[in-house]
Amino acid sequence: MPAAAAAYDVVVEPGALLRLPALLADAAPAHHYALIADSTVAPLWGEKLRAQLEGAGLRVSLHTFPAGEGSKTRDVWAALTDELLARGIGRDGAVLALGGGVTGDLAGFVAATYLRGIPLVQLPTSLLAMVDSSVGGKTGIDVPAGKNLVGAFHPPRLVVADTETLGTLPEAELRAGLAEAVKHGAIADRSYLEWIEGAAPRLLAGDAEALAAVVRRSVEIKGEVVAADPFEGGVRAALNFGHTVGHAVEALTHYQTPHGYAVAIGMVAEARLGEAVGVTEDGTAERLLAALRALALPTAIPGGIAPEEIVVAARRDKKARRAVTRYALLERIGRVARTAGGEWTFPVEEERAVAALEEATSRAPRGIS
Ligand SMILES: NC(=O)c1ccc[n+]([C@@H]2O[C@H](COP(=O)([O-])OP(=O)(O)OC[C@H]3O[C@@H](n4cnc5c(N)ncnc54)[C@H](O)[C@@H]3O)[C@@H](O)[C@H]2O)c1
Ligand SMILES: [Zn+2]
Repeated sequence: MPAAAAAYDVVVEPGALLRLPALLADAAPAHHYALIADSTVAPLWGEKLRAQLEGAGLRVSLHTFPAGEGSKTRDVWAALTDELLARGIGRDGAVLALGGGVTGDLAGFVAATYLRGIPLVQLPTSLLAMVDSSVGGKTGIDVPAGKNLVGAFHPPRLVVADTETLGTLPEAELRAGLAEAVKHGAIADRSYLEWIEGAAPRLLAGDAEALAAVVRRSVEIKGEVVAADPFEGGVRAALNFGHTVGHAVEALTHYQTPHGYAVAIGMVAEARLGEAVGVTEDGTAERLLAALRALALPTAIPGGIAPEEIVVAARRDKKARRAVTRYALLERIGRVARTAGGEWTFPVEEERAVAALEEATSRAPRGIS
């Protein structure tokens, strides 16, 4: 991302982790690095990285937790912070979050709260984390009342996306990351969305150059939005496009629907909602649907979930205020809509939302759910 758009560097390059000791010396010098990774990423990349950092003379401890959204909890946060305390890591320590978005959010929240906050370095290894969650400074955990409801803004000192780590990422996870990239195109850059659609076969085959191009462009878009509105008072709400319905789908499927898939479903539903309330240009939902289908992403609300359930779940979403739920909507592909009063989210009465989602459910072709 351009230096002016962020207070921290985002390094996107194959093999970048090999340069980590030098990068850390510049951006986050520390006496002790707590390297946090999940149970899948630790054996694939974490142990190697620890050995490499130790070889460079750095003091590192590796802390792991079970992979999956189910670990983004107070319990796992508590276990990790207790481990860091037991190691005697002080305010001159730093957290290295190596992994997907779950690790970034969870380890980020550990860093945000440990001794009232110590430096954080994001080392994303999933495509979703590279294109989205590692940039922007949001950290947090899920609680019984909903996703990401407890957390903190704690921007990293540095983000290092080593695209070589994508070599071990399952294709299903690549697709989940591409959903967020489509979102970036949908809110800010139509030609990017079209490029992703055209490059779908290469991207799904794991073509390193194509994937690096996606990470770079997405980081640029997200970085610009976040730099303009770091604490989500305005334009940053645009990044929540697809997420009001998406979070509801995640919760209603007990987090069995991966975040990226839920966002794909949510974008189509919210585009239809936007069309129904006259905010979004007609045909936008169909256009999105085509792009997402090219990436073999699900586009329909899973069978068995009623529109009323989505709307009620969305009410508990942290972006909701009162019983009228607010949605970030598109004006058209490549541009987010604003209300006449200049706001970035639109209040939609629940009855109206249910009617629009019903329409969406009946019109949407069956997705891969
Ligand atoms: N903070 C933010 O701004 C923000 C933005 C978007 C999403 N998120 C959060 O991100 C999370 C989703 O992120 P995710 O999809 O990366 O989930 P994840 O961290 O669970 O990673 C997905 C799976 O891929 C595995 N994995 C990661 N890297 C791998 C690699 N290189 N090789 C093999 N396996 C690998 C993980 O172990 C996990 O099983 C959600 O909790 C979501 O709320 C946060
Ligand atoms: Zn997301």
